[in-house]
Amino acid sequence: MDPEFVKALLDWYGENARDLPWRRTRDPYAVWVSEIMLQQTRVEAVMGYYARFLEALPDIEALAGCPEDRLMKLWEGLGYYSRVRNMQKAAGQILADYSGKMPGSAAELRKLAGIGEYTAGAIASIAFGQREPAIDGNVLRVSARYLGIREDVTRPAVKKTVREALLASDEGNTDWGSLNQAFMDLSAAVCLVNRPPLCEACPVAEGCQATALGLTDRIPNRGDKLSRRVEARTVLLLLDGTRIAIRRRPDKGLLAGLYEFPSIAGKLAPDEAVREAERLGVTALRVKALPAARHVFTHLTWEMQAYEIKTAPQGEDDKLIFAEPSVIEQRYPLPGALEAYAALYGIRIGRRIKEEDT
Ligand code: ADE
Repeated sequence: MDPEFVKALLDWYGENARDLPWRRTRDPYAVWVSEIMLQQTRVEAVMGYYARFLEALPDIEALAGCPEDRLMKLWEGLGYYSRVRNMQKAAGQILADYSGKMPGSAAELRKLAGIGEYTAGAIASIAFGQREPAIDGNVLRVSARYLGIREDVTRPAVKKTVREALLASDEGNTDWGSLNQAFMDLSAAVCLVNRPPLCEACPVAEGCQATALGLTDRIPNRGDKLSRRVEARTVLLLLDGTRIAIRRRPDKGLLAGLYEFPSIAGKLAPDEAVREAERLGVTALRVKALPAARHVFTHLTWEMQAYEIKTAPQGEDDKLIFAEPSVIEQRYPLPGALEAYAALYGIRIGRRIKEEDT
């Protein structure tokens, strides 16, 4: 970063800052409440809670002395309930160790329950005007793009680089509370996550390396930290003449409410597959192995093998639906995970249903 970056971002913030209730106060307690609520929670969701919480518990003493049921009720629906339990614990610490006054330095704030590096930086800068960055995933995204950092931004070394670059860009008169909140607003409105950034609206696009090099879709690089469980599955293609069996998946969990060819966890041998088919109420006549396939979900990979099982003619059944491939394609949503098997029977998945078909 450089002083021009800071100036351009702060000028932009001067014009575009969101008018949020916690930006109308410098009360450290209120800033603290807002920052804890805003962890893992969107601004819009916090709106309804912030004022009510402060009205019910206007200061640290009130928070420290609040009965548990009442405290949880004030947080009800916000999620991550340990946040408010930690806040109450920290209120006790502040009464015991800091004469009831929030400490003003990031180092002291970090000694309090529930306050990590980011939150300490946010409170110290916003409520106490301290020279402290508050670096979260949003700040890392904006900074990595601006600086053209292609490394995995989840590595601690990247956060250190960004921190140093930010501190070095301050010529001594920076309002860090505003700078940190300017990052929050730029990342929410312009330098977007999971969507292409709106570089034409960006006050710092001119100096941005990712923009210059056309790398905004590759930066931030979040590495490959995602660990995926691998699950073996056996898929059964039960054929009654030309009709194929499908069934609806449960309302909860993976692929909830979609339809599937019956599938079972594990790698089944042909005779086990036949036994599973019979458990589903069909009479198996012939079994044939089909090619293996795999599908990668966000947190899971299916390693699939499949058997085509010809069945004796089937009546109505509430476990299975036997339908022609064209009917399945028209009427029943199947997951892309089963595409390789659906294709063997001419069923296209994800085909746009034409209006006249519906
Ligand atoms: N997210 C975390 N802290 C915030 C703040 N002070 N304003 C807007 N969004 C935030």
